Amino acid sequence: MENSSGGFYRRISTGVKGLDKLIGGGLIPGRVYVVTGPPGSGKTTFGIQFLVEGAKNNEKGVYISLVDDSKTIIQDMLHYKFNLLSYLRSKKIVIYDLSSTITKGNTKPTWGEVLEELKRIILHENAKRVVIDSFTPLELMVRDPENKRREIVRLIKLLSTMDITALIITEMMESDKYTDDYYVASGVIVMHHFMRQFQMIRAIQILKMRGTAHDNNLKKIRFTENGIEVYNEAPW
Ligand SMILES: Nc1ncnc2c1ncn2[C@@H]1O[C@H](COP(=O)(O)OP(=O)(O)O)[C@@H](O)[C@H]1O
Ligand SMILES: [Mg+2]
Repeated sequence: MENSSGGFYRRISTGVKGLDKLIGGGLIPGRVYVVTGPPGSGKTTFGIQFLVEGAKNNEKGVYISLVDDSKTIIQDMLHYKFNLLSYLRSKKIVIYDLSSTITKGNTKPTWGEVLEELKRIILHENAKRVVIDSFTPLELMVRDPENKRREIVRLIKLLSTMDITALIITEMMESDKYTDDYYVASGVIVMHHFMRQFQMIRAIQILKMRGTAHDNNLKKIRFTENGIEVYNEAPW
C-alpha cells in the first residue's frame, strides 16, 4: 500500500513504540538492517523487542548471541514487561549462544564455519526474524579492521539471500565513519547516549533506510518497563 513516506512496500513493525512511523510504517521484510551504537545504548533491548513483536504475530524469532551468554541476556531482558519468558517457553523465540564456541575450547572455528552454523540454525528453526548480537568476537578471529568489515558484508549478503528479516548489531567504534556494512545493509539505525550540559541524552538516529523517506536527526528515546520508546522530537 502506498503512503507518504513508505512507498509501495509491505512493512513490518519494529516492535519499538514510536519508531515505525518515522520509517514509513516499519521495516521492509526480507532485508538486513544494522543496529549500531556504544555499549549500554539499548541495542540488545531493541533486538529483543523486534523478536517479541514477531512472536506476537506468530513469526519465529531467533536471537544469536556471539558475545553474551544466553542466561545473562534473559536475566537482563526479564526486567522488561514484554513477556519474553512465555515466548521462550513456547519456543516462538529461541536464543542461541555461540559465544563459548567462538571464544573457548581447543578448536576455534573459522569465520566461514561460523557463517555456516548461522545459516544452519536459521534454516533449522525456520526463522522469520533474526537478530545477531554482536560482532566484538570477530576482533578475535579477523585481525585487521578492513577484513573485519568485509566479513560483516559477507554475513549481510548471506542473510539477504534467506527468507528472513534480520538485525545485525555492531558496536560503534568511530562514530563519524560510514563503513562497508552500512553500504550493504538496507538500513542503518544508530543508538546514542552521551552527556550534554551535565545531562544524559539518549537518542536514536535513522542514518539510512532504503525505499523510505525519513529524517536523519536524533530522536529522543526513553527506556520504560515496556522497552524503548521513540519520540518524534529532539532529545534535548
Ligand atoms: N527499565 C529501565 N529503565 C531505564 N533504563 C534502563 C532500563 N532497562 C535498561 N536500561 C538501560 O539500558 C541499558 C542496557 O541496554 P542494552 O539494550 O543492554 O544496551 P546495549 O545492548 O547497547 O549494550 C542499561 O545499561 C540501562 O542503562
Ligand atoms: Mg548488548
